[in-house]
Amino acid sequence: MNAMRIPLLLLCFSLALSFSLTSSVRLTLHEGFSLSVDKPDDILTSKDGAFSAGFYPVGENAYCFAIWFSKPSCSIHNCAIVWMANRDQPVNGRSSKLSLRKDGNLLLIDAGRTVVWATATKSSSGLSRMSLQLLDTGNLVLRDEQHIISWQSFDSPTNTLLPLQKLTRNAPLVSSQSKNNFSSGYYKLYFDNDNLLRLLFDGPKITSVYWPDPWLNSWQAGRTTYNDSRVATLDPYGNFTSSDDFKFLTSDYGAEAQRRLVLDHDGNVRVYSWSEGEECTVSWQAKSEPCTIHGICGPNSMCTYHPKDGRSCICAPGYERESLSDWTQGCKPKFNSFCDSNIETEFVKLPHADFHGYETHLYKNCTLEECKKRCLDMCNCLGIRYNDSDCFPKLKLLNGRHSPSVTGDIYFRLPKFSLSSYKIPKIAYAALQCPGKEIVLPRTYAKTNGCWAIKILLIFAGAMAGMEATLVLIICCLLYRNCPEKDGAPIDGYHAGLTGFRRFTYDELKKATWNFSKEIGRGSGGIVFKAVLSDCRVAAVKWLHETNQGENEFLAEVSTIGNLNHINLIDMWGYCAEGKHRLLIYEFIEHGSLAENLSSPNELDWSKRFKIALGSARGLAYIHEECLEWVLHCDVKAQNILLDCTYQPKVADFGLSKILKREGLTNSSLSRIRGTRGYMAPEWVYNMPITSKVDVYSYGIVLLELVTGKSPTRGLANTEGGDENESKRLTSWVREKKRTGVPTETWIKEIMDPRPTGEFENRKIEALVAVALQCVEEGRDARPTMSQVVEMLLHYEDEDEMIRA
Ligand SMILES: *[C@@H]1O[C@H](CO)[C@@H](O)[C@H](O)[C@H]1NC(C)=O
Ligand SMILES: *[C@@H]1O[C@H](CO)[C@@H](O)[C@H](O)[C@H]1NC(C)=O
Ligand SMILES: *[C@@H]1O[C@H](CO)[C@@H](O)[C@H](O)[C@H]1NC(C)=O
Ligand SMILES: *[C@@H]1O[C@H](CO)[C@@H](O)[C@H](O)[C@H]1NC(C)=O
Ligand SMILES: *[C@@H]1O[C@H](CO)[C@@H](O)[C@H](O)[C@H]1NC(C)=O
Ligand SMILES: *[C@@H]1O[C@H](CO)[C@@H](O)[C@H](O)[C@H]1NC(C)=O
Ligand SMILES: *[C@@H]1O[C@H](CO)[C@@H](O)[C@H](O)[C@H]1NC(C)=O
Ligand SMILES: *[C@@H]1O[C@H](CO)[C@@H](O)[C@H](O)[C@H]1NC(C)=O
Ligand SMILES: *[C@@H]1O[C@H](CO)[C@@H](O)[C@H](O)[C@H]1NC(C)=O
Repeated sequence: MNAMRIPLLLLCFSLALSFSLTSSVRLTLHEGFSLSVDKPDDILTSKDGAFSAGFYPVGENAYCFAIWFSKPSCSIHNCAIVWMANRDQPVNGRSSKLSLRKDGNLLLIDAGRTVVWATATKSSSGLSRMSLQLLDTGNLVLRDEQHIISWQSFDSPTNTLLPLQKLTRNAPLVSSQSKNNFSSGYYKLYFDNDNLLRLLFDGPKITSVYWPDPWLNSWQAGRTTYNDSRVATLDPYGNFTSSDDFKFLTSDYGAEAQRRLVLDHDGNVRVYSWSEGEECTVSWQAKSEPCTIHGICGPNSMCTYHPKDGRSCICAPGYERESLSDWTQGCKPKFNSFCDSNIETEFVKLPHADFHGYETHLYKNCTLEECKKRCLDMCNCLGIRYNDSDCFPKLKLLNGRHSPSVTGDIYFRLPKFSLSSYKIPKIAYAALQCPGKEIVLPRTYAKTNGCWAIKILLIFAGAMAGMEATLVLIICCLLYRNCPEKDGAPIDGYHAGLTGFRRFTYDELKKATWNFSKEIGRGSGGIVFKAVLSDCRVAAVKWLHETNQGENEFLAEVSTIGNLNHINLIDMWGYCAEGKHRLLIYEFIEHGSLAENLSSPNELDWSKRFKIALGSARGLAYIHEECLEWVLHCDVKAQNILLDCTYQPKVADFGLSKILKREGLTNSSLSRIRGTRGYMAPEWVYNMPITSKVDVYSYGIVLLELVTGKSPTRGLANTEGGDENESKRLTSWVREKKRTGVPTETWIKEIMDPRPTGEFENRKIEALVAVALQCVEEGRDARPTMSQVVEMLLHYEDEDEMIRA
């Protein structure tokens, strides 16, 4: 049951190794077999070894099934990946697999549950079995024994065209989002309805064709619209031909090289060539002036280019950036619309600039003054382009470019009163794109009880492909609910409770909590709000009181806590750390806390109470002992034990003492941590070292509360008392009753909560009381550990089960 699991970290590590040193010689995947993300060696290789196919990491715990060039040298240009099955839907780093079914269907299954991609193929008959092979051309084919191909990767390219692969009307190339984000981007190389091969920017705000040059007609561009076969190929020597007569030879035409044609994330099409022992070179590109590629800089901004520093964007004078991280959003005006207000306007000249398209008219033979006047006559005119005597009033400033090679000037129309504050932009060569955030996929897998455990793993990552051996020692608290996956389990039945641990933004939480309007509790360290996340999960968001803790420290603690995973611990889904804000996001538990239920008139029967006692003990034992990163709760109380719909208890707020970094776990401090009145162990009061036994004490009080139905903070103690005296009162009252009441039935009847009417066993209640009294011993060494508590309670539960059986 405690199957050894390889921690993800190691998995990534070994996977990364295997990319550079692929030693696998798997050539064929037969029906009934699969390639698994869990096994780094599950890689399909072409016969000549040039290509490999397997799971490729695209982010943290996120994988795509991909084909790549086996030779690593080319990866510096990030051109090693040639195809991906699921670029827009990465799969989890565990239990995901590419599976060739007996019926001939090839499926990509995420985390053993969901099919994210399929070829929808079928074996023609039982006799001819299908197999999956990677050909020397880089084509992944699904074919039968007669070599009849029923599916091939060449028919569904992503952003790359390999030699001999056909670019057709139905299979355009689509760029990646960015260098790090492999999902579909905004650029497209495709055959248009007029049979021409074109480049299109199809962005969220603008759509425009930028290749061939939009102002040329087809014959000016050297193309024909008459051949409707719409097919283009690159041959192995570097000769590209397209049915619209577009053709080129690469600069290294004829030479022996690995080539590929890629629609890059920057919107340019390039052919990369690589031959043994050399650098990867660009042997052809579609656009030599990068700023003529559309969509780089959004509205009201201009692209500039410097051979050394590359492209960058600048806002037009009088405009400011819309989004600091994304230039495709462009710039917004710093002034009100000229149509709404009657402000006086004036023109500012910027030479060598152009905004392509969206002019209302062309006025020929026009003086500059006349041209300006024409613009001023339209309230929505934003400026003019003027060269020689041609006048173009502009209603939109799109596809901007500012470069010495541009002929003509732009005159921006701006409010007169602030004219002096608008500077002619200096060309600044800043980076174009902020680096993308890494994709992180949730790490919680199939939920089943009782199959998580801690592991100490000593792993010998042996010699790979003859390289030196690496000894890796990993001691790891296994954090997943890692139930072994059942083979042949239903793959369509997606588990609804797919959860993940991630960072939330403050704005996101503000929205999810209706602006922090639904308070559901106030507890140690913060206020709790109800929230509905964007994926419809109901959550509890705890807004922590301000601390001076640094962000990194906070993140370290949060990820430790967030990774604790136990059926009797509340699930933490994420956190937010922005500026001074620190928030934690938990699963929302419907039935509220044990405290609420004990004080509600609805009865909580004895079997439920016993289950709650045992479950919470298990949760605490887990954080104290099972996990190597042991954590003290420091605030165990009935309010912090939540009940789900089956009355399974879930301990909440564990680890907060770590996150809040409250003092008290060392001796020195004055402002020692304080739990909650009524539940606090004597150590807090007498300034003694704090160990996990403080939680045991508090747990004992909870047990007494569970049995007697009396709260240690209310009911018994109405008088003003010190913190410890209240719990003492409940404790000594029970002790007293137990000591003086001779027949067990009698004293138990006297102390037990009279409300539950159902059946109960004296023995069980007696056991609960006995355990509780042991837990609340004054001396911490006299108290049991939480796992001993679990054992003691289990003893009674087991007996109970046996009796029933
Ligand atoms: C390139 O390929 C086309 C079509 O296959 C062919 O007609 C042409 O001669 C080739 N050009 C060169 C230089 O080989
Ligand atoms: C159209 O283009 C294809 C591919 O380049 C070529 O084989 C075919 O001969 C062309 N058809 C005509 C009518 O030119
Ligand atoms: C431009 O204007 C001048 C004077 O108004 C006129 O002589 C000339 O013929 C015009 N040219 C064109 C091309 O309209
Ligand atoms: C005006 O602009 C057009 C295209 O933008 C260009 O072809 C033309 O040469 C320019 N005229 C002058 C005088 O620069
Ligand atoms: C990658 O790009 C897609 C499409 O815009 C986006 O939905 C996704 O969030 C991006 N991933 C990351 C990690 O930025
Ligand atoms: C949210 O609350 C803040 C502060 O109370 C307030 O300024 C803001 O207008 C509120 N926003 C919404 C959408 O209610
Ligand atoms: C427990 O408390 C919750 C919240 O107050 C309530 O919805 C639920 O019905 C209670 N259950 C019992 C058995 O009292
Ligand atoms: C805490 O107190 C114990 C016993 O009084 C002592 O042994 C230990 O060194 C102290 N630790 C610190 C960090 O002061
Ligand atoms: C607790 O009770 C004892 C006597 O029962 C008293 O001496 C002591 O002062 C009380 N402690 C506090 C903090 O009130």
